[in-house]
Amino acid sequence: MSTWIGIDTGGTLTKLAYLDENKELKLTVFPSTDMHLVKEWLEQHPHVDEIGLTGGRTEQLRDVLYPMKSIEYIVEFEATLKGVRYLLEQEGQSIHQSIITNIGTGTSVHYMDGNSHVRVGGTGIGGGTLIGLSTIMTGITDFGEIKNRASDGNRAGIDLLVKDIYQGMDMPISGDLTASNFGKVGITDEHNYETSDILATVQGLVGEVITTLSIQLAEHHQAEHIVYIGSTLTDNEQLKKVIEHYTILKKHKPVFLQDYGYCGAVGALLNVMEYSKR
Ligand SMILES: Nc1ncnc2c1ncn2[C@@H]1O[C@H](COP(=O)(O)OP(=O)(O)OP(=O)(O)O)[C@@H](O)[C@H]1O
Ligand SMILES: [Mg+2]
Repeated sequence: MSTWIGIDTGGTLTKLAYLDENKELKLTVFPSTDMHLVKEWLEQHPHVDEIGLTGGRTEQLRDVLYPMKSIEYIVEFEATLKGVRYLLEQEGQSIHQSIITNIGTGTSVHYMDGNSHVRVGGTGIGGGTLIGLSTIMTGITDFGEIKNRASDGNRAGIDLLVKDIYQGMDMPISGDLTASNFGKVGITDEHNYETSDILATVQGLVGEVITTLSIQLAEHHQAEHIVYIGSTLTDNEQLKKVIEHYTILKKHKPVFLQDYGYCGAVGALLNVMEYSKR
C-alpha cells in the first residue's frame, strides 16, 4: 500500500499536500529558496513513498531530492485545475464554468468549462509584485508584516478616484472607481505618506489590476464566476476585499476557496494517487 504526497514548487513557495492516518487532507508550506527543507520533511516521513510533483521549480526540486523516491510529474496548469475542481466539489460549490485566477508570484488566468480548461491570460503583477514594491517603497520585506500594516492603511491620499476628477459634474462611470492608482501623488505638493497607507495602496494596485484582467476575460468567455486562488490571498483580508468589491461591482461572482494556496499541490496529489492505482 503506497502513501502519497503532492508537491507544488512555485516561484516563491513550495506547497505540500498529503493525507494523514485518518485520510484527512493536510497541507504545509516551505519557501522555495529552502528546498532542502522538503527533503528533510520527506526523510522524517519515510512512509511517504510516491511523490506527485508540479510547478515551475520541479527540476530544481528533483535535483535536491535525487535519488529519492518515485516521482510522477504533472504540468502546473493541469495540476492547478485538477485541484480547483476537487476543492470546489469538497466545499459543495457546484461551479462548472468559471474563470480561475491564480495569484502566485505572478498571475495566471484560466477558463474552465466542465472537464476542459485553457489558459486565457496572465500578468506579471502578482504576489511577487506586492512584496517587491512594498520592499522598495517601505523597506518591509516580510509578507505577514506587509499585509498586517496594509490592513490599517488608507488609500484615499494616494489613489485618484473618478470623483476626484469629475467634481460637480455627472460622472460617466462610478465615482468610487480608481481613476489612477497612485495618481494623487503626481498632482499634490505635500509628499508625506504613512507606511501603512503606501502598503494599502500597493495592495489596491495589485488587486485591481488582477481583477480588471479577470473581469475582462470573464466577459469574453461569458463566465459568471471568478475563482481566485494562490498564496497571495493567505490571511490577506484587505486584498480579498479589493478583489471581491471590484468583481461584484462589475457584476461577476467572486469565489475564494478555503485552501486557495494549495490547488496545485492537491492536484499533484490526486494525480499520483490515480497513477499508482492504474
Ligand atoms: N510565508 C510566505 N512567504 C512569502 N510569501 C508569501 C507567504 N505566504 C504568502 N505569500 C505570498 O504568496 C505569494 C506566492 O504565492 P504562491 O505560492 O501561490 O506562488 P508560487 O506558486 O510560489 O509562484 P508561481 O505560481 O507564480 O510560480 C508571494 O509572492 C507572497 O505575496
Ligand atoms: Mg504557483
